[in-house]
Amino acid sequence: MPTLLITGANRGIGFELTKRYLADGWDVIACCRDPKAATALAALKGNITLEALEVTDDAAIDTLAAKYRDRPIDLLLNNAGIYGNRDGAKTISAFDSFRQVLAVNTVAPMKMALAFLPSLQKAKAAKIATISSRMGSISEGPGGSYVYRTSKAAVNAAMHNLAMDIKGDGITVIVLHPGWVQTDMGGPSAAIDVATSGAGLKKVIDGVTIKDTGGFFNYDGGTIPW
Ligand SMILES: NC(=O)c1ccc[n+]([C@@H]2O[C@H](COP(=O)([O-])OP(=O)(O)OC[C@H]3O[C@@H](n4cnc5c(N)ncnc54)[C@H](OP(=O)(O)O)[C@@H]3O)[C@@H](O)[C@H]2O)c1
Repeated sequence: MPTLLITGANRGIGFELTKRYLADGWDVIACCRDPKAATALAALKGNITLEALEVTDDAAIDTLAAKYRDRPIDLLLNNAGIYGNRDGAKTISAFDSFRQVLAVNTVAPMKMALAFLPSLQKAKAAKIATISSRMGSISEGPGGSYVYRTSKAAVNAAMHNLAMDIKGDGITVIVLHPGWVQTDMGGPSAAIDVATSGAGLKKVIDGVTIKDTGGFFNYDGGTIPW
């Protein structure tokens, strides 16, 4: 069966996607910061392996990638993300927080993609899917939320350029907006539940081919302007 490696698998959208790929028969390497505390994740049925991973720890990423170097990975799902401070317009309340959001949302997905490239190259028609956000769309940006918007716009740019560079390897690279989702990040008033988002994201990820590489997709299958 194909193999998925996913970050931030213990809750929210990552947990939902992990459940869905396991139910589909995939082998899942589910990364989270604290596997001992991830009881719901550990209780999932199917071929799941839990791995401890703090995505801002470059050495930990390299160690994990080395562990799986001989194993083909069909799908790398960069899901882990943070919002940072909920600042409004004309405010960045903490620049250290800005740097941390960039480290998690922008730098870590690229580090993951490059570290796991040997495993992705071993699979047939592998994919790298990064959960970004519509808030990273520069053309749609209404102002405010500079930190989160910048981190997602930057990861979109990084993944688009990576897509161009590894097209020849047959690896499809996309970024996705999951919708405004009822998770800890999205809050209870969000527009859609996690099942709707997870079902939509999985359908889009499973459906894309190398022809779609470099694209920015909504969870409903539509595209989003940069
Ligand atoms: N919910 C929405 O409405 C929405 C909208 C657009 C985009 N997104 C994006 O969707 C993705 C998932 O969001 P969510 O709503 O599921 O958020 P969530 O419920 O807050 O879950 C975030 C996940 O990321 C993990 N994580 C955070 N920082 C990490 C780090 N440094 N190292 C490893 N794991 C880390 C968390 O692990 P811990 O449990 O250890 O903290 C958790 O598993 C994010 O990239 C987010 O930006 C969400």
